[in-house]
Amino acid sequence: MDNSTRLQYLEAMGIDVWVPRKQAVVEIEENQAVSDNESIPVEEADNTLTLGWDELKQQVNECNKCDLSKFRKQIVFGEGNINAEWMLVGEAPNQDEDSAAKPFVAQSGFLLTEMLRAIGVQRESAYITNIVKCSPADNKDPKVNELKSCDSYLKRQIGLVKPKLILAVGRVAAHALLGTKKPISELRGIVHYMDDIPVVVVYHPAYLLRSLLEKRKAWQDLQLALKTYQEK
Ligand code: URA
Repeated sequence: MDNSTRLQYLEAMGIDVWVPRKQAVVEIEENQAVSDNESIPVEEADNTLTLGWDELKQQVNECNKCDLSKFRKQIVFGEGNINAEWMLVGEAPNQDEDSAAKPFVAQSGFLLTEMLRAIGVQRESAYITNIVKCSPADNKDPKVNELKSCDSYLKRQIGLVKPKLILAVGRVAAHALLGTKKPISELRGIVHYMDDIPVVVVYHPAYLLRSLLEKRKAWQDLQLALKTYQEK
């Protein structure tokens, strides 16, 4: 798609174009209520943490650890560069992704691609996956047992990719990765670590599409991610 078509497409969707700004202005953080069922127990799993890519994908394909497996069309394992320096982890596939077997398609995927492009990262150069590999019905937040069922798959993906930086895309991903229930307003703007891999929390593009006023904060978060990556 050429640039002017892309801009028209963005405009039609009501999305401003992401352009680098020199100055980031700090705004008041919002606080979001967090329900109790969002605490994520961490489980060390079986042999998953020793698998290679093909075996891991096969294991996820055959997984029936939780009820999500009953309703999926197919798993959404992840896509992109398996040697990526940037790894993006979202929440869970929705119905569109369930059909496409790819993470972050449709509008939120389009915005995510633009967010990356704005900081000079090509989507294809990153590795993109989700905490949960099957689509929850009605696009609901995944339940604790569903998150737990997929925990070792994501851990192994991270172990195989060995990214320089992880972007936790949205609240559910941030909670699962960081093992916390804090509101995203308290998690963004800080560099967290999983072992020695920096993790930066960014707003979910689906949320940004509903709350365009938060774009400025999202831009600050991306700048933090870029700076952290450059300094690593
Ligand atoms: N699609 C994904 O793949 N992940 C999300 O978190 C949302 C939509």
